[in-house]
Amino acid sequence: MSTILRQHAEQQFQEELEELKKNESGNVPANWQLSPQSVVTYLLGGKLKNGFEVSPKYIGNQRLIEIAVATLTTDRALLLYGLPGTAKSWVSEHLAAAISGDSTMIVQGTAGTGEEAIRYGWNYAKLLAEGPSEGALVRTPVMRAMVEGKVARIEELTRVASDVQDTLITILSEKTMPVPELNTEVQAVRGFNVIATANNRDKGVNELSSALKRRFNTVILPLPNSVEEEIDIVKRRVESFEKVMELPAEKPALEEIRRVVTIFRELRNGITDDGKTKLKSPSGTLSTAEAISVMNNGLAMAGYFGDGVIKAADLAAGVIGAVVKDPVQDKIVWQEYLETVVKHRDNWKDIYRSCRELI
Ligand SMILES: Nc1ncnc2c1ncn2[C@@H]1O[C@H](COP(=O)(O)OP(=O)(O)OP(=O)(O)O)[C@@H](O)[C@H]1O
Ligand SMILES: [Mg+2]
Repeated sequence: MSTILRQHAEQQFQEELEELKKNESGNVPANWQLSPQSVVTYLLGGKLKNGFEVSPKYIGNQRLIEIAVATLTTDRALLLYGLPGTAKSWVSEHLAAAISGDSTMIVQGTAGTGEEAIRYGWNYAKLLAEGPSEGALVRTPVMRAMVEGKVARIEELTRVASDVQDTLITILSEKTMPVPELNTEVQAVRGFNVIATANNRDKGVNELSSALKRRFNTVILPLPNSVEEEIDIVKRRVESFEKVMELPAEKPALEEIRRVVTIFRELRNGITDDGKTKLKSPSGTLSTAEAISVMNNGLAMAGYFGDGVIKAADLAAGVIGAVVKDPVQDKIVWQEYLETVVKHRDNWKDIYRSCRELI
């Protein structure tokens, strides 16, 4: 197990899930591993009756997570919607891990996703040899989730062509999947539901039909409310990355995280934190997820090519890479920010110098 690059949530947090089960006092819906209250505790963290500490996975509004979990107990599916990097996939994985003990029933939606990726496919060698038969049928994660009473995950649902999306309608409303070739059907057992994610920034997305929309309850995941909240998210994620990657670097100082998060927030909001200077926003989204990547990158730089302590010079390239996505427009925006804000801020001279050297 130790050589696996990334464990599934249910593997990584196995101990927490077991403790939650032991301390269960709520009503556990059919085929769920935990009660809805315990699923929320797993996501947001908290202390159990026996004193065990559950770590927070999602940092943000409790009510949103409660709505998401409650939805999954009903006959409607859950759509997690929002800007890139707002933890939609992350929340979806952890919900599936806590509810079904299995976050792997996943379909990645792309423009090329066909019906057979959602319904079922055929093993062509067997199909030619035997004709349509149970043995020749290739079950999709959605079909398996229906049979096993688990949560299926569909990533980036809006990238899937509209007619393919609509194959979900029968599955979600009738809870069945007809297999006309075998003159049969697969009926979902209790515990089955779907979590889809979609972001509202990508080009070339296909709106959900209103028939399909009605079968989903949409929960919008927002950007973090405050600087402090965002710093907290970045800090926790970077610390867990550091553990897995075993980098020869020290934990980043909170001050460095604060600077990166501040730069991202100010550019994203188009105004400095003190409200005094208006800024132009670059074309990228500059999400929390990107701030996390910049810090991780900085750790690798400091660990392998620096003295193990993360400094401005280790972060500069990452910050510029995240901000300047369009080499012309974004570069102008960045230079303006550098000269009007970064240059004049107390204790930011090192960042200013490192960035100037690179651009
Ligand atoms: N509020 C938050 N709480 C905890 N982690 C967060 C939060 N916001 C972002 N993250 C972190 O950001 C990273 C990226 O999130 P994720 O990949 O789930 O984004 P996404 O919304 O699915 O983006 P995309 O639309 O690009 O698929 C994750 O590692 C997650 O831990
Ligand atoms: Mg995602």
